[in-house]
Amino acid sequence: MPDYHDDLRLAHVLADAADSTTMERFKALDLKVETKPDMTPVSEADKAAEELIRGSLQRTRPRDAVLGEEFGSEGSGPRRWVVDPIDGTKNYVRGVPVWATLIALMERGEGGDRPVVGVVSAPALGRRWWAAEGLGAYTGRSLSSATRLAVSRVSRLSDASFAYSSLSGWEERGKLNGFLDLTRACWRTRGYGDFWPYMMVAEGSVDLCAEPELSLWDMAANAVIVQEAGGRFTGLDGVPGPNSGDAAASNGLLHGAMLDYLRS
Ligand code: IPD
Ligand code: CA
Ligand code: CA
Ligand code: CA
Repeated sequence: MPDYHDDLRLAHVLADAADSTTMERFKALDLKVETKPDMTPVSEADKAAEELIRGSLQRTRPRDAVLGEEFGSEGSGPRRWVVDPIDGTKNYVRGVPVWATLIALMERGEGGDRPVVGVVSAPALGRRWWAAEGLGAYTGRSLSSATRLAVSRVSRLSDASFAYSSLSGWEERGKLNGFLDLTRACWRTRGYGDFWPYMMVAEGSVDLCAEPELSLWDMAANAVIVQEAGGRFTGLDGVPGPNSGDAAASNGLLHGAMLDYLRS
């Protein structure tokens, strides 16, 4: 089995650099924010953090490919770094501390591309989560001060806490009724955006979460962290991994029951 220690260490170094640049600009009164063609905001901090990460990767891993939300795809090959420089830009530009830099390494295998390393760094919350295939999932301030993560053992929807990220997309996908029925079947439903519900699944404080419209950079790091914490991460179609354009994550025990509501 490949050893991902070096890649995980590098992902932490990249996250440290991104944290400095995002925190420096967080809540700055003169923060420059533009509107993208899809009418979503992007700030100078999103671009600066991605540029920094891409520059470091070009120096340290020149053969690896990179995909980032703000500057697209570069290179090809079996190893690809997938970067969301700020997940939660709408929070960031409004001064809400729930945003994170998401860094994943994906590797090509027989079953397609899978995330093998993931770091989610949320410096305004003072939190970081990470995982590597075969090494487990952790949270802490650094690699040397870490607590291992494990998903919950809740096995009935009627006892389960369900986190959704956004209300938009369910109707467009023809899944609004299934989504609403799922919220009624669960013990508790709350909305938490961006990376946050996935990290709660990995920590065991939430049992399941789902989202209908996502890109690879929104999901890759979250997926490996949930899986290494003992949970399951699939598309709404049940296909394992972050490649479906939507996401369902759970402690594993509730996955089939959740997908029964969301699949059709
Ligand atoms: C967004 C977040 C959000 C999801 C959106 C994404 P961004 O990412 O991941 O949870 O619902 O579809 O675009 O733009 O803040 O990185
Ligand atoms: Ca995102
Ligand atoms: Ca982003
Ligand atoms: Ca965005």
